[in-house]
Amino acid sequence: MGNLDDDPYREHVLYDLEYAHHDEDVGWYVQLCSALPSGTSALRPILELGCGTGRLTLPIARAGATMLGVDRAPSMLEGLRRKLASEAAEVRQRVRLIEADYLRSQDALSTSAPFAAVLWPFNALHHCAGPEQLAAMLAQIRPWIAEGGFLALDCYLPDLDLYDRDPKARYEPRTFEDPRSGEVLESWEQGWWDAERRIHHVLYVYEHPDGSQERTQLSLRMYELPELQSLVADAGYRVERSAMDFEGSPVMPGALKWVALLRP
Ligand SMILES: C[S@@+](CC[C@H](N)C(=O)[O-])C[C@H]1O[C@@H](n2cnc3c(N)ncnc32)[C@H](O)[C@@H]1O
Repeated sequence: MGNLDDDPYREHVLYDLEYAHHDEDVGWYVQLCSALPSGTSALRPILELGCGTGRLTLPIARAGATMLGVDRAPSMLEGLRRKLASEAAEVRQRVRLIEADYLRSQDALSTSAPFAAVLWPFNALHHCAGPEQLAAMLAQIRPWIAEGGFLALDCYLPDLDLYDRDPKARYEPRTFEDPRSGEVLESWEQGWWDAERRIHHVLYVYEHPDGSQERTQLSLRMYELPELQSLVADAGYRVERSAMDFEGSPVMPGALKWVALLRP
């Protein structure tokens, strides 16, 4: 059984077991992209940073937008390519993929800019190592956005109750059918909080019937909302929409999510 060490994106099958059916954000992103001025995204693609296995890329492309998905994880892109193969020809033609680290290969994206819009969805910004890297990325994205376009993102806000959990205990027990073998996988998570570095570590364990395990680990750099707001303001964005969920609820104390539409 492959050892995944700590890369949660090295095996698209495990990612999709966890997240393929997560859909609370899909309507919000599809609607935003569909509301771009008519024809805009046929002329210019929408850039999705960290497109993964296409959970959002595909519904947005099916709704008519042209997408450029970038991801550094070959397996995630392979998962997306497999799904694309069973899409209608016009959807396939609307999706282009680049395997690259967007923090390091910005020239490859700059040459395709400007984009009708840029999406940085589903907590991907927590993979930035810290505020300096996040600030640099926000500054880099801004000139990539065409007139009338936007940067849309969503991320977690710190959840102190979650971080208080016993790091040795098993949480969220569940069973999955492994599409690779048909076996039943027993799965659970463990997590711990590095308060000094503000990193939430989450370990996902998948146990096979023979007792062997595959493990993946997410390390998410967390930010308080005022810090995020000041980073986006310093990078020159105007916050057009700010909510704590995809229904547009105003951000309240204790909010665990930030959903934002930013204008350059
Ligand atoms: C939480 S997943 C989101 C995937 C997809 N957008 C979705 O909503 O299901 C984050 C994705 O960002 C990718 N990613 C993280 N940092 C990246 C970087 N610096 N460059 C390129 N891709 C990155 C990961 O490989 C992963 O596929």
